[in-house]
Amino acid sequence: FFSGPKGLPLSGLHALVTAGPTQEQIDPVRYIANRSSGKQGFAIAGALAALGARVTLVSGPVGLETPKGVERIDVVSADEMLAASLAALPADMALCVAAVADWKVVGAGVQKIKKTDDGKAPVLQFAENPDILATLSGLGADRPKLMVGFAAETEKLLAHAEAKRQRKGCDWIVANDVSYGSGVMGGDENAITLISDAGTERWEQTSKHAIAQRLALRIADHFQKSPSG
Ligand code: CTP
Ligand code: CA
Repeated sequence: FFSGPKGLPLSGLHALVTAGPTQEQIDPVRYIANRSSGKQGFAIAGALAALGARVTLVSGPVGLETPKGVERIDVVSADEMLAASLAALPADMALCVAAVADWKVVGAGVQKIKKTDDGKAPVLQFAENPDILATLSGLGADRPKLMVGFAAETEKLLAHAEAKRQRKGCDWIVANDVSYGSGVMGGDENAITLISDAGTERWEQTSKHAIAQRLALRIADHFQKSPSG
């Protein structure tokens, strides 16, 4: 097995990992967000660090300990997550594990929205957030050589995930079934299918830590075969 200069397979490589949800402000006391514990992204960051990579973890609001050997940057919104990710470049690889809110609220106010006497609910207007995975994948010289996306789907898992890989221009996509009853959302286990140019590979349900270790080893193997990524 190839060893980097400092004896570990990912020594000398910089990995950027996004994790957790983002929160998009409605007003000072309210926000919208995705359901995401951040556990899978944090486990991946830790597994890459354990194999010798320098890891920058850009995290949305989560209640998790920073994995050993990982540099963590906390952000709240998608705009902040993109800015922190771009600032962390150059990186040899980027793994976008975050559940980024797809929309932000237009004109989020500095004052709390108050209820009105007529009982009318407020109408929120949304604008699409920047796509961090697509943005990083589309960079020229600064593009991390290995771009990995995640696709959480509730139906047509492989078709939707492969379409996402094409659309966003990433190299690998990790597809996971988050349909009701799969039991993976927020839990400690996950079952995934890895999709790359080489085809698809199903990894049976196991702990998020085991998935992270296997993915880190697969990445080490990739860089061993093509050291420039
Ligand atoms: N992603 C991202 N920035 C966004 C949205 C998504 O970086 N604004 C990344 C996620 O981190 C993940 C991948 O893109 O790696 C797929 O996210 P997903 O929400 O499944 O894709 P979307 O294009 O937002 O499609 P959907 O309509 O299914 O939500
Ligand atoms: Ca989305």
